[in-house]
Amino acid sequence: MESTTQADKTSIPNILVEMLGISKVYPDNNVTANSNVHFNLQRGEIHALVGENGAGKTTLMKILCGLERADQGTIKVGGRPVHIRSARDADRLGIGMVHQRFCLVENFSVADNIVLGKEPLRGGIFYDRAKAKQTVKVLSEDYGFEMDPNALVGTLTVGQKQRVEILKVLYRGSTILVLDEPTSLLTEQEIKVFFRVLRQLKTMGYTIVIITHKLEEVGQISDRVTVMREGQVVDSRPSANLDKATLARLMVGKEVLLQVEKPAKNPGLPVLEIRDLSLIDPTCPRPLLAGINLRVRAGEVLGIAGVAGNGLGELEDVLTGMNSRGRPSGQVLIEGLEVLGHSPARLRRMGLAYVPADRLQRGSSLALSLSDNLIVVNHHVFLRFGILRNHSISKFSNDLIQRFGIKGNMSAPIGTLSGGNIQKAVLSRELSRRPKLLIISEPTWGLDVACSEFVYQEIIEMRGEETAILLISSNLDEVLALSDQVAVMYKGEVVALFPNVGLDRESLGGYMLGLHRQEVKEKSGCWEERAH
Ligand SMILES: Nc1ncnc2c1ncn2[C@@H]1O[C@H](COP(=O)(O)OP(=O)(O)OP(=O)(O)O)[C@@H](O)[C@H]1O
Ligand SMILES: [Mg+2]
Repeated sequence: MESTTQADKTSIPNILVEMLGISKVYPDNNVTANSNVHFNLQRGEIHALVGENGAGKTTLMKILCGLERADQGTIKVGGRPVHIRSARDADRLGIGMVHQRFCLVENFSVADNIVLGKEPLRGGIFYDRAKAKQTVKVLSEDYGFEMDPNALVGTLTVGQKQRVEILKVLYRGSTILVLDEPTSLLTEQEIKVFFRVLRQLKTMGYTIVIITHKLEEVGQISDRVTVMREGQVVDSRPSANLDKATLARLMVGKEVLLQVEKPAKNPGLPVLEIRDLSLIDPTCPRPLLAGINLRVRAGEVLGIAGVAGNGLGELEDVLTGMNSRGRPSGQVLIEGLEVLGHSPARLRRMGLAYVPADRLQRGSSLALSLSDNLIVVNHHVFLRFGILRNHSISKFSNDLIQRFGIKGNMSAPIGTLSGGNIQKAVLSRELSRRPKLLIISEPTWGLDVACSEFVYQEIIEMRGEETAILLISSNLDEVLALSDQVAVMYKGEVVALFPNVGLDRESLGGYMLGLHRQEVKEKSGCWEERAH
């Protein structure tokens, strides 16, 4: 990397990190991920980094953390030019990154995970597990994390796993923390706790970068914000008094409405019926799902809200043939046909489209190309005399890429797309199937505002075309914006079911936390509701 003239001008004392004239091209898909980017961090601030999917946020931060090499540009830390060629170099400078995709070993304990790669040794050779536990205990107490060093990581919630990731970085002595979309997998309650932790770290003198697509978080947590668009920084300013609409406009370059028009509509016949569905795992003290009765009719959106760990994931798994825990009982009917226990492929043939929350693990095959991923579930459509018709495949893929604004090369592995663009690809594939029933979980995780708005419109359009839609989401605003009916799950049960009329976040929140429950009875196909 070479130094630039601007590099020599900036020596403002409270500026801790400067990235000057950073450029990076990925030759595989000929993308300029960063183009002459200037970015700085003040000591002790929380700095939000926002921008559309594929804008280059992760790339810029990977360069700072030594995980990618810039083609051009200079980095200064504490006013001095530095060379960051590897994660180890960044580590030495006190810079650490928490990735969006966790890098934890599920069957290791919390303590083993945190010290991994930098284990305390006994006699200079042997791993000193007792010391590791003690260190991690003290560390997590110091930061108010309440972590059990002995717990197996595989048994933790997403929020707890994230704290393990942060402790890992703190254990290495980093004082500059880069967090890539840390809140996208967290529930609202977990985000509150997480922000408390960040504020505490800030008062302890840490400097934090937080990448986020949730624009309200910019005002809630950050001191300054930098906006990126198409590989460039378009603005950098204090976050106070910056409203969501202005931010969205800066990001996208045009007005974003941030709202959904949901026309009134009478639902049709039931498509999905769930009758007395339970899921028992003998190793768990309580049923994972207990006596669930729900139905979704054609042209209707049923939104399911709940805090993580209350059965939402299990319900998603059982309904889509992906369940691997315990034994389900009861009935699940699609258009009157019993489907409980059917394989995902069979369910697809019956008209189910499924967008899982975990689109990286479940929804896509990272080594396959973008176009292969787009056709994978209905590639028979492209067969003629047993041969795949390449021309039709390109046309179909191109169409989806255009419609959904997916940024990526059709023939490059989907794993090289930005996080949000992978999500868009999976969504576009499933939504384009115009299914009878759509089960969609966390549809806007990792998506930028413009794309979220587009996805909402697609969902409403599918509702208009008589698809029955089961929406599972930890985002209450999303549930309220899209649903015709809202069910709340708590400890594996449906504790409330309302038509979405005059509902508000606060009252739903009470049901989600188990403070209230509703007596729900099914009576001649209709729900009779009584709150108490
Ligand atoms: N390893 C890679 N190989 C090839 N191209 C890449 C690679 N990593 C990123 N890119 C490309 O660089 C561009 C910027 O990606 P980046 O991940 O930095 O975006 P982002 O702003 O973090 O987006 P998102 O909000 O979707 O996570 C994208 O077009 C992406 O396809
Ligand atoms: Mg990213």
